[in-house]
Amino acid sequence: MDFFHRARGGERALLVQPVGAHTDDSAAAEFEELARSAGASVLGVITGRLDRPNPRFLIGTGKADEIRDRVEAEGADLVLINATLSPVQERNLESHCKCRVVDRTGLILDIFAQRARSHEGKLQVELAQLKHLATRLAGGWTHLERQRGGAIGLRGPGETQLELDRRLLSERVKMLESRLEKVEVQRQQAKRRRERQAVPVVTLAGYTNAGKSTLFNALTEADVYAADQLFATLDPTLRKLEGLNAGDVLLADTVGFVRDLPHDLVVAFRSTLSEVRDADLILHVIDASDPERDARIEQVNAVLAEIGAADVPQILVFNKIDLVDGLRAKRHRASDDLPERVLVSAMGNQGLPLLRAAIDDFLSGERIKKQLKLTHSQARLRARLFDAGVVAHETITETGWTLKIEAPKARLTPLLGLADGDGIWLGKALKLD
Ligand code: GTP
Repeated sequence: MDFFHRARGGERALLVQPVGAHTDDSAAAEFEELARSAGASVLGVITGRLDRPNPRFLIGTGKADEIRDRVEAEGADLVLINATLSPVQERNLESHCKCRVVDRTGLILDIFAQRARSHEGKLQVELAQLKHLATRLAGGWTHLERQRGGAIGLRGPGETQLELDRRLLSERVKMLESRLEKVEVQRQQAKRRRERQAVPVVTLAGYTNAGKSTLFNALTEADVYAADQLFATLDPTLRKLEGLNAGDVLLADTVGFVRDLPHDLVVAFRSTLSEVRDADLILHVIDASDPERDARIEQVNAVLAEIGAADVPQILVFNKIDLVDGLRAKRHRASDDLPERVLVSAMGNQGLPLLRAAIDDFLSGERIKKQLKLTHSQARLRARLFDAGVVAHETITETGWTLKIEAPKARLTPLLGLADGDGIWLGKALKLD
C-alpha cells in the first residue's frame, strides 16, 4: 500500500495566525518559516483575535468568512493555522472554506515526515501521523474534494489515507508499534554497549536552523545532510569525536527544536530524545545572529526540561558569528551564574579549537582518583570496571581486590546505572551519588 505517496511542487498556502494576549510578532514569522520549510508557497498571512474563541472553528465566524473569501480569491490549496485544532474544528473549517486545513501539529508532522532519516525516525513519524489522522477520520473526508496528489498534512501516510478505514489504520498502527519496540530494543542494546565501554556522549541540541548539523560536520568532518531549511536533522546521528585528551567521545546530532513543540510529538520522539537526557554534556547551539536568540535559548531549555534533560550540563555555543559585526571567536569560561560560552562559526571554521578544548576540559576536567576495595562477590563489577577502562592498577587481597580507579567523572557516571545495586554501591564508594 502506498502509505508514503508524495507529490512535489509548492502548494499555495494561506496562513492564519491567531492573536491572543500572549502572542508576539515573531510567532507569525516562525510559522511562515515552518510553512516554507514544508514546501509551501505562502500567499499571505491572516491574523485573527482569539479573545472569544468560537468552539465551532476556534477562530470567530467573521474570520472564518474572511478566510473562505481569500481562499477563493487567491486560489489557495490549503489553509495553515498556527494553533491546535480539534478534529471537529478542523473539519468545520474545511467545510466552511472549501479548502484543506492543516493545524500546527499536522504541519510539524509533515516536516518531520520529510526529514526523518533513520529507520526509527521514519517509524516514529508515521506512527505519530497515523495517530493524528485516526482522530480525524471519524466523520470521513467527504466534505472535501479529493486532492491532487500528496500534499502538506497528507504527506507521509499519503493520499490513500482517505480510503483507509479505521480497521486498516489500527492494524498499521499496531504493526508500527511492534516494529518500533524492536528498534527500541536495538537502541537500548547499543546504548548499553556504549555504557559498558563508558564512552562519554556529547549531544548537540538547539533551536532549528541554529547550525547543529554544520557544527557536527565541522567537528567530526563527517558528511551529514545540512540544508537551509528547518529540521534538516531529525534523528540523532552518532560520530566519534577524535583527538581529545578525554579519550573516545561520541558526538550526537539531534532534531532541531521549535517553540511549543506539540506535546504529542515530544512523546513520539521520547526515545530519540532520550539520547539528549542521557548525555554527559549538551552543546546548546545558538544562532548568534538571530534577533530572537535569548527567547530561543529559553524555548530550547523548556523543551530540554520537558524531556528530563534540565540537569545535563551545557556549554552554550554561539554559532554564526561571521554574520554579526564585532563578534569574534572566543571562549568565556563558566562563572557562578553562567555556563561556559564559546563563540564560533561552524561554516567559517572559526573557534572550533576553542570549542574542542572546552569539551575536553569538561570531560577530563573532573577526574576521579580513588581506591576501591572489592570482595570476591563483586567479581562482576570488577570486570565491568576493567571493561570501562577506568582501572589504573590492581592488587589482589585476601578478600578480593584493591583497585586504583582513575578516570574522568563523565566516564564513571554511566556505570552508576549498573544492575543489581552495583551502580548504587559504586556511587557511594566513589562519592559520585
Ligand atoms: P535543524 O536540523 O533544522 O535543526 O538545523 P541545524 O541546526 O542542524 O542547522 P544546519 O546545520 O542545517 O544549518 C542551518 C543553516 O545555517 C544552513 O544554511 C547552514 O549553512 C547555515 N549555517 C550553519 N553554520 C553557520 C555559520 O557559522 N555561519 C553562517 N553564516 N551560516 C551557518
